Amino acid sequence: MVVTPWEVKGKVDYERLIREFGTQPITNDLLKKITNHTDQLHLQLQRKIFFSHRDLDTVLDLYDKGTKFVLYTGRGPSGPIHIGHLVPWIFTRHIQEKFNTRLYFQLTDDEKYLIDDDANLKETRLNAYENALDLIALGFKPENTFIIYDTEDIDLLYETALEVAKRITYSTARSTFGFQDSTNIGWVFWPALQAAPCFIHKKLTGENVPALIPAAIDQDPYWRVTRDIAPKLGYYKPAQIHCRFLPGLAAGGKMSASQPETSIFTMDKPDVVKKKIWNAFTGGKGTAAEQRKLGADPSVCSIYQYYYYLFEESDIKLAEREHKCRAGEMLCGECKKDIAEKLNTFLAAHQERREKAKDVIDQYHIKR
Ligand code: TYM
Repeated sequence: MVVTPWEVKGKVDYERLIREFGTQPITNDLLKKITNHTDQLHLQLQRKIFFSHRDLDTVLDLYDKGTKFVLYTGRGPSGPIHIGHLVPWIFTRHIQEKFNTRLYFQLTDDEKYLIDDDANLKETRLNAYENALDLIALGFKPENTFIIYDTEDIDLLYETALEVAKRITYSTARSTFGFQDSTNIGWVFWPALQAAPCFIHKKLTGENVPALIPAAIDQDPYWRVTRDIAPKLGYYKPAQIHCRFLPGLAAGGKMSASQPETSIFTMDKPDVVKKKIWNAFTGGKGTAAEQRKLGADPSVCSIYQYYYYLFEESDIKLAEREHKCRAGEMLCGECKKDIAEKLNTFLAAHQERREKAKDVIDQYHIKR
């Protein structure tokens, strides 16, 4: 298993990540605490898709005593958005709505330029604009959502990035991020820029409040180094809530834009979705007859995971699907047809909202 901000490989063992990264599991007590503020538990918490955290309890305690928090998350605009990226953003929107709090959203066109030998800035900037449309299409409110385009808004981040960079040694950065002699020096400095938005709220408003970061667990190394230096700079340690990875359509591994055939992108056309789904890896048997007799295994099936993560809100219907699959009463063809329909309905509505986002995107751009 490899889980870094730039690479996720192998079968991800989430319990092991909690131990190795030194994060905390989300306990039932913590879930109860969250429910006090959100009425119903969000599906992604209820199903333990968000499974781990740092200081979420502290942030909620502070909130109860009158200290608000801000949300912070982001995207490295290497290409188009796939439905895996939407998992933490859908949850972020839910938290924004329930706590009526600000979101700072960082688009790291600089990061993607630095880490990919073939990338150019024109392209990563264009991707950043396109990716922002996907975020807006999820329903974030402009008055509470502040998008940062790194290269364009560097003046806002630079001072804070310098404060951070000055306090992280090369030795810490190398052991946290695996830098090598051949790593370019832009990349070595870059983590200070992902740290900066954790603290930007104070710079903009004068208000010192903690940031809560919803993201998949691959981003955790950034927060480890940022948390170490935050108190030295007079800021709260940024808190995190970590989700699992939505798998790709192949056997094992996360959905990843670098593997387009096994990813569903938000701009995919219905026939492309159908084709990708049709070719997906499932837990099915070699022949229909065998499957009717022996049943299939939803625990290894990517399609089942899509119902679990995003497309079946009813626990009863999800359990029914699982049961029919295991009993051989529902074959993979039927299940694939259903998910392709659900996906295409979702994507058609998303694409419509994304188109409308073009008219309002400027309202989301962070202001000085
Ligand atoms: P990036 O572009 O790799 O990923 C964007 C967000 O999507 C999450 N993610 C996934 N979540 C569920 N299932 C998947 N298959 C999946 N693939 C990616 C990532 O964890 C991330 O939350 N350096 C960052 C950009 C960034 C950022 C941030 C991310 C800047 N500031 C603050 C999170 C929080 C990056 O390249 O993300």
